Amino acid sequence: MKTLVILGSTGSIGTNTLDIVNRFPEAFRVIGMTAGSNDELIEEQIRHFKPRVVALSNAAAAKRLRHRCGDVPVEILSGQEGLVQVASVSEAELVVSAIVGGAGLVPTLAAIRSGKHVALANKEPMVMAGQLMQSEARRLGVRIFPVDSEHSAIFQCLEGHRVEDVRRLILTASGGALWPLTKEQLHDVTPERALQHPNWKMGSKITIDSATLMNKGLEVVEARWLFDIPDPQIEVLVHRESIIHSLVEYEDRSMIAQLGLPDMRTPISYAMRYPERLPLNLPSLNLADIGLLSFCKPDHDRFPCLNLGYESLRIGGTMPAAMNAANEIAVDAFLNGGIRFTAIPDIIRSTMDAHHPVEVDTVESALEADRWAREKAESLVLSLAH
Ligand SMILES: NC(=O)c1ccc[n+]([C@@H]2O[C@H](COP(=O)([O-])OP(=O)(O)OC[C@H]3O[C@@H](n4cnc5c(N)ncnc54)[C@H](OP(=O)(O)O)[C@@H]3O)[C@@H](O)[C@H]2O)c1
Repeated sequence: MKTLVILGSTGSIGTNTLDIVNRFPEAFRVIGMTAGSNDELIEEQIRHFKPRVVALSNAAAAKRLRHRCGDVPVEILSGQEGLVQVASVSEAELVVSAIVGGAGLVPTLAAIRSGKHVALANKEPMVMAGQLMQSEARRLGVRIFPVDSEHSAIFQCLEGHRVEDVRRLILTASGGALWPLTKEQLHDVTPERALQHPNWKMGSKITIDSATLMNKGLEVVEARWLFDIPDPQIEVLVHRESIIHSLVEYEDRSMIAQLGLPDMRTPISYAMRYPERLPLNLPSLNLADIGLLSFCKPDHDRFPCLNLGYESLRIGGTMPAAMNAANEIAVDAFLNGGIRFTAIPDIIRSTMDAHHPVEVDTVESALEADRWAREKAESLVLSLAH
């Protein structure tokens, strides 16, 4: 029986995680859960999974939840402090980190610092402070298991091999909802159109990140710190079908790939039960039915965000944190109809140009860069609003 905390239980990764718990009730017990403000869904989850402690970042939603759950023996906390308390609750062995965005940094770091192993879906904290998170994890003997399908694939392709024999990590990219569009067509894209991902059903922020290819930029930074491989050895390959989840090339030019139908329950369950593979009873990948798989290079002209990810790593320090924060503000503005799709990379670019990076020697330096970049990007959104 593995005891779990799920940060972001009401989201796409969170609900998929709970689906796995539901299928294997003898393998997992949920001790704690958190969400932002969705008190309705988390009430259902509390009644079903019976966690001891829950936190909502939104204080008003936490108040509503206390009212709804008056008849249930559960402690309900609120705010960032509440999330941190749930992330570090003593009975939990594994924390599934599935909050969206930089809001997950402080709770995920708290989980590591209290000695919990982490199943990491929430990539933005790794972008903001990956080196710090890894050095804390190493110091405390904590393992960070990747949940992102690409990083789970690389993790699997690296097993049983020597890191010094790795020549390249190759992250595959679906290209997102807008890959076939011209630059002119991208200019007029609506949020509804950009949210139509061809292969994956995910939260709205990551779906827009997939459409801009910023998701791949964030994943390059995530891979840099998760696998301790320098960024010149990390490449991106567009593979529209999302069947090959990523590849590793070794010095002898042998390449190992991990394949599967796109279903996040596979990488989530692997991170939750490593090294065991749970009998998920999902449809099998049938390559004969698929017939052909396609590959091409990323198009940096139409989708400049991928290169911003590489650039942020080359500059280093707080630059990835600033890039991430500017992206969160720009994506939010696009989803709310405030800016055009093509303004997203412009806002990130201008924020990065104005940022003076410092070392990320403490979490506060990453958080300060995050605060600064959000303000900067918000002012750019206001100046660009159409
Ligand atoms: N979805 C996927 O298939 C997928 C794949 C790979 C990686 N990831 C990564 O996993 C993370 C989660 O993605 P998702 O698609 O599951 O997102 P999502 O569906 O939008 O869910 C986000 C979760 O975070 C909570 N949340 C939002 N803002 C918060 C805040 N300020 N403080 C505390 N909690 C907050 C939400 O609570 P409410 O419901 O109350 O708002 C929800 O539980 C992201 O970093 C994403 O890049 C996702």
